Amino acid sequence: MDAPTAALSPLLDLEGRVALVTGASRGIGAATARLLGRCNARVAIHYGKSRAEAEEVASDIAQAGGPPAAVFQAGLGSDDERRRLHREVVDSLGNPLLLVHNAGIYVRNPFEETDDDAFLSRWRTTQSVNLESAAHLTLLALPAMRTARFGRIVMVASRAAFRAETDAASYAVSKAGMVSLARCLARNEGPRGITANSICPGWVDTAMARPDVAARKAEIEAEIPLGRIATPEDCARAILFFLSPLASYSNGTALGLNGGSFLH
Ligand SMILES: NC(=O)c1ccc[n+]([C@@H]2O[C@H](COP(=O)([O-])OP(=O)(O)OC[C@H]3O[C@@H](n4cnc5c(N)ncnc54)[C@H](OP(=O)(O)O)[C@@H]3O)[C@@H](O)[C@H]2O)c1
Repeated sequence: MDAPTAALSPLLDLEGRVALVTGASRGIGAATARLLGRCNARVAIHYGKSRAEAEEVASDIAQAGGPPAAVFQAGLGSDDERRRLHREVVDSLGNPLLLVHNAGIYVRNPFEETDDDAFLSRWRTTQSVNLESAAHLTLLALPAMRTARFGRIVMVASRAAFRAETDAASYAVSKAGMVSLARCLARNEGPRGITANSICPGWVDTAMARPDVAARKAEIEAEIPLGRIATPEDCARAILFFLSPLASYSNGTALGLNGGSFLH
């Protein structure tokens, strides 16, 4: 991880605030946690199963001289585990005033499915992990944000929210729900100094996308005017923007981050 321990500039200084990043053991979440640590946030690195990877992220932040970071486990499909996650973060680091709802799953769930129980099970799990967890963890964090008259909430949604998916409607709907959730929060909480925004990536080079990218890389890249799929760091920078003073007037925005592959 490259150098600076202090904030990159005053406009990127996160002022020692606590940032909860869900799904920060790898991919976009890990890159975001590392970058927020460099920008002087105290990062709560959430993971589901990948403890060793989450600890590596914490150790990278420490090595770069960032403020104390800590790792927290929770299965985000469970109401109780989300409550425990919030409590443990508050007890260990303090109230998270910066929230990055990044953890997510992509599960194919085609309408050609003939087993309706299986369809419903995949549908509910996807909504619960991707969307409901973002609403629930936000609800738990809001009282402290209102007291502070400050909060920054970022949803890691997807291009799928707008482009739609043929064989993964449950995923696309969960991501459209996240964009809408940010907009609802933006209107409800803006008067209290709290903003909510979404980023909507296209293909990103992570474990989630790798099987598809490996199978049809040339085809995918040909659809992207910039000629490459995104890196996790491309996404982390956009998330940092919404958390930082640079985005002081952004509220309810959904930022496309797809290299120009889907414009609307
Ligand atoms: N990659 C893409 O092309 C792409 C495009 C658009 C949007 N996105 C969105 O970006 C976000 C991050 O994706 P990524 O590509 O970085 O994915 P990833 O590499 O698969 O990482 C997913 C993260 O979410 C955590 N997670 C998954 N299910 C969980 C659960 N039930 N409970 C707790 N944690 C859980 C994982 O934790 P553990 O490994 O510790 O269990 C992991 O840290 C997702 O919301 C995804 O939908 C990705």
